[in-house]
Amino acid sequence: MRLPERQLAVLEAASATDERTIDEIAAETGLKPETVVGAAFDLRDEGLLVVNEAADETLDLTDEGREYVDAGLPETRLYRAGLALDADAEPVSMGRVIGEADLNGPEVDIALSNFARKGFGGIDSGELSVDGDADPDADPEAAALAALAAGEAPDVDERVIDQLDSRGLVAVGESVTRSVTLTDAGVDALMTGVEATETVAQVTPELLASGEWRDVEFSEYNVEADAPTVSGGRKHVLRRTADRVKDVLVGMGFQEMEGPHADSDFWINDCLFMPQDHPARTHWDRFALDVPPMEEIPDELIRRVEAAHRDGWGIDGDGYHSPWSEEFAREIALRGHTTSLSMRYLSGIAGAELEPPQRYFSVEKVYRNDTLDPTHLLEFYQIEGWVMAEDLSVRDLMGTFEEFYRQFGITDIRFKPHYNPYTEPSFELFGEHPETGEEIEIGNSGVFREEVTGPLGVDCDVMAWGLALERLAMLTTGAEDIRDLHGTLADIEFLRNAEVSY
Ligand code: PHE
Repeated sequence: MRLPERQLAVLEAASATDERTIDEIAAETGLKPETVVGAAFDLRDEGLLVVNEAADETLDLTDEGREYVDAGLPETRLYRAGLALDADAEPVSMGRVIGEADLNGPEVDIALSNFARKGFGGIDSGELSVDGDADPDADPEAAALAALAAGEAPDVDERVIDQLDSRGLVAVGESVTRSVTLTDAGVDALMTGVEATETVAQVTPELLASGEWRDVEFSEYNVEADAPTVSGGRKHVLRRTADRVKDVLVGMGFQEMEGPHADSDFWINDCLFMPQDHPARTHWDRFALDVPPMEEIPDELIRRVEAAHRDGWGIDGDGYHSPWSEEFAREIALRGHTTSLSMRYLSGIAGAELEPPQRYFSVEKVYRNDTLDPTHLLEFYQIEGWVMAEDLSVRDLMGTFEEFYRQFGITDIRFKPHYNPYTEPSFELFGEHPETGEEIEIGNSGVFREEVTGPLGVDCDVMAWGLALERLAMLTTGAEDIRDLHGTLADIEFLRNAEVSY
């Protein structure tokens, strides 16, 4: 029998009576463990070896766990500080004990909750007392951490390990140990004699030129061999979602809009019939920029927008009769929505085609002075869009959204009547989060009022919307917090593996 060299080496190192692990064979043959695994599987396929697999739990200290091995568990430090201040005799103010224990930041909460759990003492009205009989030296959690630090297997109850795992002090993993034994056929082969064939892993120009390739034996691919995971470069899940959104909208016949991130209040708000004293226009909500005002706005358009604000538009129109300042309209801020782009395009200054029917969109960043929380970022992406046609109704809007979201596998969009100063009727869109089951707001929409389209010179219906790209990504990836998608909290594994639905 002839076998490739490395298979022969593994066969010779294996035994019919003792299980030999891959590592033992690697050490004996001088082959790399992954090479041994590959050869072992090949020999198994030839019926010469049996490969056994045993899964073992692995335990490793986390960085935090390692820190406590050196510094002591926070609750133990709290206990010892309490003892030093005689809190076993009389309660001592918590602030003093915490100071004495030199606990900082999150360590304080960790110390307090575990201190109580372990019965080290009690906390009452801001004072801490310690139980003189408690014995932190006998604490199995500390003992397990110390054993792991010393490279030994901790001799403690499984519950202690679970506790350390949930505290994030140890990482529980799994490792597979493979071992091999010779089969009868393997023993026979060795007895009758096996010769090594030289195997070639790759065809080279030399092999081809010399014709030697005819005689050599090529090693086979082993798709079961362990191999290191290679994480290549990848587009961010949000960028991929944005690309997908663009594909879908282009497929639905839309053209893309572009325009400035920093724009005049005129395009961001005044064109939208947003009164100048609207709360969203105060300095609390917008990021105003300290730069010179915008000069290049068509005069005629300014006059018409001003007229809509002051006196209304159309026969039964009635404006706000509130102050309107051109100076304010020319001030620059970061756009709070991309509806500024829709205004620019609908006004004709961006060179859009305006003969109905028309469809335009953008997937662009907007900026709002919100409070950061699980569903709000200070900057995020809006999927803006509008359709211009004769006689549009809410049904057209609902149908457009249903068609759009269906492309992402979302078929349970819900609609809720809403109010915008610039659309009538208006409604908000909600989608159900796949993990939490919560209804989250994913967009806002409506049909532009005459006070908006009139001054722009548009005399047919325009339905429009602003959808949140991050929320769409939350629905498609199951991310529960917007900060899981970008920023420092985003989990690298999630970013590596998250898929965008197609
Ligand atoms: N500008 C709105 C928002 O940011 C979205 C919207 C656009 C609503 C166009 C109606 C029409 O929420």
